[in-house]
Amino acid sequence: MSKTILVTGGLGYIGSHTVVELQAAGYDVVVIDNLNNSSQEVKTRIEEISGQSFELTVADVNDNAALEELFAKYNFEGVIHFAAHKAVGESVDYPVMYYQNNVSGLISLLGVMEKHAVSNLIFSSSCTVYGETKNPPVTEQTPIQKAESPYGTSKILCEEIITDYAKHKDFKSILLRYFNPVGAHPSSKIGELPLGVPNNLVPYITQTAAGIREQLTVFGDDYNTEDGTCIRDYIHVLDLAKAHVKALSYCDKMAERVDVFNVGTGNGNTVLEVIRAFETVNNLKLNYKIGPRRGGDIEKIFAETTKVNDVLGWTAQYDIKDMMQHAWAWQQGLGE
Ligand code: NAD
Ligand code: WQD
Repeated sequence: MSKTILVTGGLGYIGSHTVVELQAAGYDVVVIDNLNNSSQEVKTRIEEISGQSFELTVADVNDNAALEELFAKYNFEGVIHFAAHKAVGESVDYPVMYYQNNVSGLISLLGVMEKHAVSNLIFSSSCTVYGETKNPPVTEQTPIQKAESPYGTSKILCEEIITDYAKHKDFKSILLRYFNPVGAHPSSKIGELPLGVPNNLVPYITQTAAGIREQLTVFGDDYNTEDGTCIRDYIHVLDLAKAHVKALSYCDKMAERVDVFNVGTGNGNTVLEVIRAFETVNNLKLNYKIGPRRGGDIEKIFAETTKVNDVLGWTAQYDIKDMMQHAWAWQQGLGE
């Protein structure tokens, strides 16, 4: 009998790719998403890729009655919790909205999981919990720092709540700390849908190449790195999606109640390297200029991935050129 997984936020950027991978791995999927940062069209796209359908409930994870109905109907094997707000800058302007959506959302979910004795949870955390680090790569033991934004605080609080809850209940959880997810499904049917002016590098690059934005500003070239621009660990969203499938099967056999994994490639790229990769693989010239530093940016961070490689048996397959090729193919298909 196939196992049924609840995916919160399953129509979003990472969630949609994960639903595709879960279906490919033989799981039945149920999605709850309030369409706050996605659209119902994504469901059709996912089903086109996988050739399989899934049930969607359009509701908020803070809507207890909606969750109750789903947990009463299905015997969930596990839950993957993506649903959250994710814009760092917005969280500074609307902190309460972030605590409510991200922290209360998790508490609401845990309440219903407890009632229905569902014990496996995969949680979307972020490398943001490490803050500014002195000597990357960061391991899972690298100390967590006080967050600079309510978004970061919400992720730290959620990790703490899950860890504390699991101390007292028969409960297993894997915290996945994502590095910088980019790219899109190679079919170009699903990808990132940023609202308004993108804050993140890759959607800004693709929108500039598409003529939607006039010019990309590189935020600072006076950092202590090879070419002076910041270093990040960019990870293809489909590789990241596959890590969730590995995490789900590990949840069943793990000895600890809670375990945490970095999910990155283990390689750092500078902003200029990302631009060069985009230009080379797509045979384009990008209009960009060097500007001042962006407040709050970390100079250099990338993941130590030994743990996720060895314990989950997961390694990233796509490189930065694949990421840039798929991101551009997705951008070109938008609006069609
Ligand atoms: P996204 O905004 O594309 O997807 C989130 C989905 O959740 C959307 O479909 C949205 O409509 C839905 N949603 C939001 N709040 C909800 C609620 N209260 N109830 C029901 N649905 C709700 O974001 P994403 O990039 O796919 O991120 C997924 C998760 O990964 C988030 O928890 C995010 O914090 C985390 N994360 C993202 C990144 C990144 O750079 N994209 C990096 C690290 C961690
Ligand atoms: C990447 C690099 C910028 C835009 C954010 C969140 C983090 C996590 C991932 C959720 C930096 C530079 C960017 C531009 C630029 N999300 N840049 N010009 O800041 O590493 O992380 O997303 O958990 O919490 O903070 O990602 O894509 O914004 O920036 O030069 O127009 O690109 O300075 O060096 P970041 P990003």
